[in-house]
Amino acid sequence: MKKCINEMKLSFLAVGENEAFARACVSSFLSQLDPFVSELAEVKTAVSEAVTNCIVHGYRGRSGGVVSLQMRLYSDRRVYIKIRDKGCGIVDIEQAMQPLFTTAPEEERAGLGFSVMESFTDRLRVRSSPGKGTSLVMEKTLKERTADESLENGISDKSGRKSRTGTSVR
Ligand SMILES: Nc1ncnc2c1ncn2[C@@H]1O[C@H](COP(=O)(O)OP(=O)(O)OP(=O)(O)O)[C@@H](O)[C@H]1O
Ligand SMILES: [Mg+2]
Repeated sequence: MKKCINEMKLSFLAVGENEAFARACVSSFLSQLDPFVSELAEVKTAVSEAVTNCIVHGYRGRSGGVVSLQMRLYSDRRVYIKIRDKGCGIVDIEQAMQPLFTTAPEEERAGLGFSVMESFTDRLRVRSSPGKGTSLVMEKTLKERTADESLENGISDKSGRKSRTGTSVR
């Protein structure tokens, strides 16, 4: 089992403005692993989809709901993200995860949120209790940087030296 090298936990109100806030926090926290731009975009999009689901489905018609976001980084570049709400929950998870399934077609939802999360991460697990809420874990292992790429981006080489010549990805 690889070592957890960093962890963060965050709670915020389930309001639309916090989707962008969650994306920004995840992006900032992940930048220490010096991800490729495409990986960062994928993680941010997957997080957006999950947080949006908590807001629009989990706490539908309710105010004051809270979304929790936990993130862990591992020494083998694995990223663990848990997003949880204490909203209405999902009765049939398998059905909810089917591409194009949505309970909100009148809002022009496409039913593709879970498909996006699945395709942009390596692993997606969903647990839910109707009336109690939903908890979702996504995991993704970031690609290794070559020594040259890492040095260009200011990441320590194996001897622990740091050289900041490039700009980090946001
Ligand atoms: N946190 C949640 N709480 C309650 N129900 C949820 C939650 N997340 C998803 N669901 C249910 O699962 C369905 C499918 O979710 P998914 O994100 O795939 O599609 P969508 O949100 O309906 O549409 P899109 O994400 O494309 O806008 C939702 O329509 C909703 O019924
Ligand atoms: Mg969705």
